[in-house]
Amino acid sequence: MPVWDEHHLEFFSLSPPQTQRLGIRLGRNLQTGDLICLQGEIGSGKTTFVRGVASGWGSPDPVSSPTFVLVNEYRRPDGLRLYHLDAYRLAHLQEALELDLEAMLTTGALIIEWAERLTPLLPMERLWIVIEYVDEEVRRFWFEAQGKRYDLLLQQLRTSIYGA
Ligand SMILES: Nc1ncnc2c1ncn2[C@@H]1O[C@H](COP(=O)(O)OP(=O)(O)OP(=O)(O)O)[C@@H](O)[C@H]1O
Ligand SMILES: [Mg+2]
Repeated sequence: MPVWDEHHLEFFSLSPPQTQRLGIRLGRNLQTGDLICLQGEIGSGKTTFVRGVASGWGSPDPVSSPTFVLVNEYRRPDGLRLYHLDAYRLAHLQEALELDLEAMLTTGALIIEWAERLTPLLPMERLWIVIEYVDEEVRRFWFEAQGKRYDLLLQQLRTSIYGA
């Protein structure tokens, strides 16, 4: 049951560009150590959202789906990193252990598609985002902040969308 409080935010995107703009707003405030988890069916818009996040964060590189390598790494000119993991093709959790999420979170921010497949391995503190297909061009975004850092990130996103 949805709850409207400082830990949650609901947003309806009406187009792919709007989803990218939403991602840009989040990406601007991302810091090393941040964990962003995306849950949503095939074609819900996870990668579209990540494109925005990477661009808002300042990645000079284009975002592609990390289908074969599982993880893409984007680097900013100032040396900061953003990791983009896609857990869709993970055969078992053991494979994810080899990815060393902890190391990624100490050297960069991490955004994960199909994050629900990695739940046992993920830190409890994170921004969890559920994306639902509503209509051909409409997607419902449901943000849940888990931990103080993510309350702040969500507050910044809210302000960026709706103003102070
Ligand atoms: N409001 C919207 N936001 C995002 N994508 C949308 C929207 N409306 C339509 N689309 C379309 O939905 C598709 C989303 O594809 P995308 O690759 O982002 O999904 P995905 O969740 O990453 O899928 P996968 O599980 O295969 O990785 C694109 O074809 C995009 O054009
Ligand atoms: Mg994808």
